[in-house]
Amino acid sequence: MSDAGGESAGESAQGEVRQRILTGVRPTGPLHLGHYAGALENWLRLQDEYDCFFLIADYQVSDYASDIDVVRRGVLEVALDWLAVGLDPEESHFVIESHVPEHAELTVWLSWWISLGRLERNPTLKAEIAELESRSDAAVPVAFFTYPVMQVANILLPRAHLVPTGEDQSPHIELTREVARRFNRRFGYTFPVPSGLVGRVPRLVGTDGSAKMGKSAGNAIDLGDESDVVTAKVMGMYTDPTRLRATDPGHVEGNPVFMYHDAFNPDTAEVDDLKERYRGGRVGDVEVKRKLAAALNAFLDPIRERRSHYGARPKLVRDALASGTEHARAVGRETMGDVRSALRLDDIGGA
Ligand code: TRP
Repeated sequence: MSDAGGESAGESAQGEVRQRILTGVRPTGPLHLGHYAGALENWLRLQDEYDCFFLIADYQVSDYASDIDVVRRGVLEVALDWLAVGLDPEESHFVIESHVPEHAELTVWLSWWISLGRLERNPTLKAEIAELESRSDAAVPVAFFTYPVMQVANILLPRAHLVPTGEDQSPHIELTREVARRFNRRFGYTFPVPSGLVGRVPRLVGTDGSAKMGKSAGNAIDLGDESDVVTAKVMGMYTDPTRLRATDPGHVEGNPVFMYHDAFNPDTAEVDDLKERYRGGRVGDVEVKRKLAAALNAFLDPIRERRSHYGARPKLVRDALASGTEHARAVGRETMGDVRSALRLDDIGGA
């Protein structure tokens, strides 16, 4: 058994002990601006300070059971998106969840200490199940209902201290904290109790003005979109519906175009000027959108450059996944060793 530092943290190149991060994403399609502002930006900022495990959660896609191709392609796409935004596999570990079967093993044990009612009350899970059930081919796999348990195992397996994610993941982190405490109380200190960390823009609205940018909602600007695609999406964005002419006073608050300016345009003087003129009916939507498209394309240009570098070198992407996954497996085996002895699994016959 270890204390909160010790074997539960990784060593940096300089030899100092760093606390751990585990976070992840499901490999169901390209990453978008919402992922960036809600989570990736924090991952980038923290990757030097923490020993990071970035997980591609391919056990957690039972809602894609009829689309296994999408998922397998998604694994490489996510890794490429990560490299493109500047995550560094020399420093951090890119992990394919299903290649570390200890995730599944720990899930089975932890599910002993999570009640059915506790899962049924999870608001994120509830909303996702309602969404699944609303589709025509509605059927909710058992694995979908229990994915938060696996998410707890994902976080506890490397004994993470911090879990930076989008806001929708907070109920899963709360569950993880409960399970860690319960396990530690019952079996002695085994897992750090991890904290969550939500990004600067917890929930980015979609280009259509709906509550959340989503892969499947058709309202996303992807990190991999070409500049003409970005411009077209911005020019088609939902804006202030009460404004018919450029001379009408417009609403800035709650206007998705301005929310994106706030989130991604570093030229705050330009944004302030646009807001003032918009409120006063002295600027048209077209100019506001043109400036947003320019700001987004400037933000995405370095990402595009790194993407084309790695896109042309798929071996580098696969190597990053292989070495990160191998490291995670070694760490996972060590934790499972402690869990097995806490549960006395090798004690045949009992006391
Ligand atoms: N459920 C997360 C999502 O839908 C992905 C995920 C899987 C995750 N395992 C995780 C996030 C562990 C944080 C920690 O995006």
